[in-house]
Amino acid sequence: MKTRIIASGSYLPSKVVTNDDFAKIMDTSDEWISQRTGIKERRFEEDSNAHMASYAAIKALENIDYESIDCIIAATYTPDSYIPGLAAEVRKTLNIRRPIPTFDLNAACSGFIFALETANAYIKAKIYKRILVVGSDMNSKTLDFTDRSTSILFGDGAGAVVLEASDKGIIDTILGGEIDRDSSLSLKVSDMQTNPFTKDALNKVEYFEMNGSEVFKFAVRVVNKTIKDLLTRNKLSIDDIDYVVSHQANQRILNMAARSLKTSKDKFLTNLEYYGNTSSASVPILLDESLRKGIIKENAKIIVIAFGGGLSYGASLIEI
Ligand code: COA
Repeated sequence: MKTRIIASGSYLPSKVVTNDDFAKIMDTSDEWISQRTGIKERRFEEDSNAHMASYAAIKALENIDYESIDCIIAATYTPDSYIPGLAAEVRKTLNIRRPIPTFDLNAACSGFIFALETANAYIKAKIYKRILVVGSDMNSKTLDFTDRSTSILFGDGAGAVVLEASDKGIIDTILGGEIDRDSSLSLKVSDMQTNPFTKDALNKVEYFEMNGSEVFKFAVRVVNKTIKDLLTRNKLSIDDIDYVVSHQANQRILNMAARSLKTSKDKFLTNLEYYGNTSSASVPILLDESLRKGIIKENAKIIVIAFGGGLSYGASLIEI
């Protein structure tokens, strides 16, 4: 028995911010951003993460009875509030009245793959029959718009999939992590309230911070190794894989991974030109678009893969 993706959906905010828009507020250019990253524009949400996540879920559930969902898992590191969590907000919008569990999962940009594997384990253990997994991040509210090497990379968006048991689907998964000794990726939690019994609150606004070149090297290394490990332990070669649906961080990372796997860069699907890095949403948005456009067809073998803060990484080999 396997776990199959039976439906998908995605949501992109309508507000488009181009590289030229960034060049108006900081010392950068469309040429620099395009050449170093492949990104031309990104979307910024003007409502909330719950708005994005809920609309991606509604799209995924367009032919599915909401009340048939047994559990909702939301991968995010940018919920609108700690309580209620993002998955609880999605359930509220869907108005699912059955007493189903909902919870958020944070594995930074790898979150969707971790949520997918969590759902896979629940379904294989026959704990839940049908699970909604959402990956949704509102990166724009964490960005320091005076930091030109980080703020230009990210966008907002949401993707969702519905999973249930089938004779085909997720074949194998690798999840992993390494110690982030140099704080290559961080977003600290600001003190919310002064505690009269302990130290004074810092009351400092915290931004997303990144050491770009360290993350770049980590990403190229783990994408290459994780795909090779998945292929080896399933006795497959890269030629057996129709497409790689990777986290969308930088086109150069995808090109280098393709080169090191000795395959065409066209095997790595991409949409980062239009959306930038949408963190937990990158993989499910690209997956949904590729399924809806008929690029990924029934019975295709794909690898979904993501990497990010923690440091974390994960990949699944899937038969569609
Ligand atoms: N516009 C113009 N110049 C910029 C710039 C921008 N937006 N951002 C940085 N620069 C400058 C730097 O200040 C530096 O100038 P200097 O040489 O005078 O110091 C120069 O460009 C080169 O910077 P560097 O950091 O070496 O560039 P890079 O080729 O490594 O590209 C990233 C930077 C951030 C695009 C790249 O490292 C990257 O994509 N890393 C991975 C990030 C990632 O994937 N994060 C998410 C993981 S989930």
